[in-house]
Amino acid sequence: MKANRRSFLKGSALAGCVAATGLPSLSFARSAGSTRDPMRILVLGGTGFIGPHMVREALRRGHNVTLFNRGKTNDSLFPDLESIHGDRGGDLKALQGGKWDAVIDNSGYVPRHVENSARILSPSTGYYLYISTCSVYADFTRLNDETSPLATIADESVEEVNGETYGPLKALCEKRAAAEIGADRLAIIRPTYVCGPGDHTDRFTYYPVRTLQGGDMAWPGGPLHSMQIVDVRDLANFTIDCVDRHTTGIYNAVNPVGAYTFGDLLADSQAVSGSSVEPVWLDDAFIAAHDAEENFPIYDPLSGPESVSGFSEKRALAAGLLNRPARETVRDLLAWWNTLPGERVSNARFRMSPEREAELLLAYETGNSRVPAA
Ligand SMILES: NC(=O)c1ccc[n+]([C@@H]2O[C@H](COP(=O)([O-])OP(=O)(O)OC[C@H]3O[C@@H](n4cnc5c(N)ncnc54)[C@H](OP(=O)(O)O)[C@@H]3O)[C@@H](O)[C@H]2O)c1
Repeated sequence: MKANRRSFLKGSALAGCVAATGLPSLSFARSAGSTRDPMRILVLGGTGFIGPHMVREALRRGHNVTLFNRGKTNDSLFPDLESIHGDRGGDLKALQGGKWDAVIDNSGYVPRHVENSARILSPSTGYYLYISTCSVYADFTRLNDETSPLATIADESVEEVNGETYGPLKALCEKRAAAEIGADRLAIIRPTYVCGPGDHTDRFTYYPVRTLQGGDMAWPGGPLHSMQIVDVRDLANFTIDCVDRHTTGIYNAVNPVGAYTFGDLLADSQAVSGSSVEPVWLDDAFIAAHDAEENFPIYDPLSGPESVSGFSEKRALAAGLLNRPARETVRDLLAWWNTLPGERVSNARFRMSPEREAELLLAYETGNSRVPAA
């Protein structure tokens, strides 16, 4: 099992300016407004990272949005929207008696929670869209399309969400939603690593932000190692497209297999930031020998140029998912990063400290023996 793919969930005050990128300000052709009459949409969640992008896109298209959450996270984000407060793990009475054209379940990690909300909302909605994850698959050494086998968990009553249980529990959540709603009213979207403005995981973000510092920079695998990502705005557009069209079925929300590499990310980070680094590509064997895989977010030793693994993008692209150029993601991510308070920046969830990076670079260059893990 590959913990880095299984655990999408688990995820220094750097200054810098976003230089001219060569991208026109609206380089990406966005979908037009809704083709349907305004709908009443209930979003379970909606105030974290991905949720607000979905909410804004739904509002932009003229829909009416209601939020359901505990009121703990960014509660003042949408002061003009109706907010229903409640805990998914507890009493859902507050959701009874409402009427919605569509429900977007963006905050379901525990099968019991998804089952309960789907059961209570089934008579009140025409459509249910569950945000799942590519971590649901059973085997990350192969190319997974939406029909590939899913991970299972021996004890289906487990509710602790961690790197090991996240994928199998999300797979179970999908199953429970399908049992309550039925395939004719249900869409399941399985995003890969979601990145862009607002990303609180600091995974993809690490690379462009580290580039701002210049100097020798450790990069994982090689420039042809690929990564599958999805820009949060593209995911939001696709989600609301599905809602608008009442699209049913299961979709991997990913960029095309092999289309974007760490070498591309290096080039984009340098072009956007105006900084340059001296890349030191640490090969897969070195990274394994130095227990450094966890220091490099999104890196997967199986994603080299000969890779046969990943997540098929075909079905989502056919259903309308549009992936913007990743350079635009890097540009907007850095612009967002530069607006963050110093405390947030210095508490970034980066998995590699400057000291650890220096240690790895030294070991790589001198061929020294094993360095202890960070
Ligand atoms: N980030 C990634 O790369 C990635 C990749 C694949 C899939 N996903 C999926 O994306 C979804 C998460 O996105 P997000 O964190 O950005 O979501 P979000 O909808 O933006 O934020 C999480 C929301 O859930 C609410 N919430 C949390 N626990 C709750 C509870 N017990 N009862 C009621 N509401 C609760 C939070 O508000 P309160 O705290 O106020 O309750 C908040 O509004 C998940 O389904 C995850 O599996 C993410």
